[in-house]
Amino acid sequence: MSRATFFEVEILDAKTKEQLCFLDKVEPNATVGEIKSMFHKSYPQWYPARQSIRLDPKREGIECSSLLTLKYHPLFIYLYSPGISGMLPAERIFWQGHVRRLVDVFLTEYAGPLFIYLLFYSRLPFIYEEKDEFTTSPHTVVHLAGFCHSFHYVKRLIETLFVHRFSHGTMPLRNTVKNCFYYWGFTAWLAYFINHPLYTPPLYGDQQVHLALYTFLVCEIGNFSIHLALRNLRSEGSKMRKIPYPTKNPFTWLFFFVSCPNYTYEVGSWIGFTIMTQCLPVGLFTLIGFFQMTVWAKGKHHMYLKEFKDYPTLRMPIIPFLL
Ligand SMILES: NC(=O)c1ccc[n+]([C@@H]2O[C@H](COP(=O)([O-])OP(=O)(O)OC[C@H]3O[C@@H](n4cnc5c(N)ncnc54)[C@H](OP(=O)(O)O)[C@@H]3O)[C@@H](O)[C@H]2O)c1
Repeated sequence: MSRATFFEVEILDAKTKEQLCFLDKVEPNATVGEIKSMFHKSYPQWYPARQSIRLDPKREGIECSSLLTLKYHPLFIYLYSPGISGMLPAERIFWQGHVRRLVDVFLTEYAGPLFIYLLFYSRLPFIYEEKDEFTTSPHTVVHLAGFCHSFHYVKRLIETLFVHRFSHGTMPLRNTVKNCFYYWGFTAWLAYFINHPLYTPPLYGDQQVHLALYTFLVCEIGNFSIHLALRNLRSEGSKMRKIPYPTKNPFTWLFFFVSCPNYTYEVGSWIGFTIMTQCLPVGLFTLIGFFQMTVWAKGKHHMYLKEFKDYPTLRMPIIPFLL
């Protein structure tokens, strides 16, 4: 501290311990938040939300509102980059290489299945035997399945572009590649079997197909209704999270019983598609999707309980009264 009225603050890199910044005229009543702003002036790319200022590199960051005192010296700084699940340590993001814009990510992820499925549906050369190239299936259910699959992914693309209001703008490249492998790979596998010339329609014929189609469509409408309800929880550009409640739309009444009805409906759609096609890879895709969405729904449910003291107690994460 200088003899006059100012602090001298040294900011060290939390990893290398090298001096990053020396502030020689800091007001004695300055807060940690103000230190962050001063650091930001020297390093414009590291805005305050990307900084964690610590007394010890291994300890938690100091609250922005904390007043600077003599014991806060030197200060260690830990820098973060924005990612899909909040702020990531900067070195992790560098290691991951690039960050993709979230909207582009989803467009890539969802346009892939749409396109890949249609390659198999058209029976392009080199997929099945030569004599089957560009032929069409004699079974109505194959065409119905093609329609439902395309409908599902067109809906997701439209929702990504016009409905969802994401709070994170980017996703690490590694996650994008992993998701694309998952969606594209599974689509190729299930489309191969459904559109195969030797494919046999479901055991209980039209009755099974009609029941499945009804289930699929109801769940798609339900899923879309929930996405609209979630959209209406925040205004454009806002990142605020609120408790979602049922609206006048009866499809949203599932909010009475679960925290993530969009996942419940999504699983319902895939169950419908499995019954319709009676195809093992579709069943497996549904099962894996169900496990994945259950894990996410549990996480979101616990977050709601932690964040909102008045959170409705009847709700379960994904399956009413059960799970
Ligand atoms: N088949 C599969 O395996 C599978 C797997 C996962 C998802 N999906 C489909 O993809 C859809 C979207 O998935 P998701 O995981 O992104 O769903 P999500 O977490 O429920 O989010 C959907 C949108 O609503 C926003 N949101 C959620 N809760 C909110 C709240 N309390 N307040 C304000 N906004 C809120 C989200 O914003 P944030 O950006 O802040 O989260 C996001 O923009 C699912 O509903 C499902 O149809 C399919």
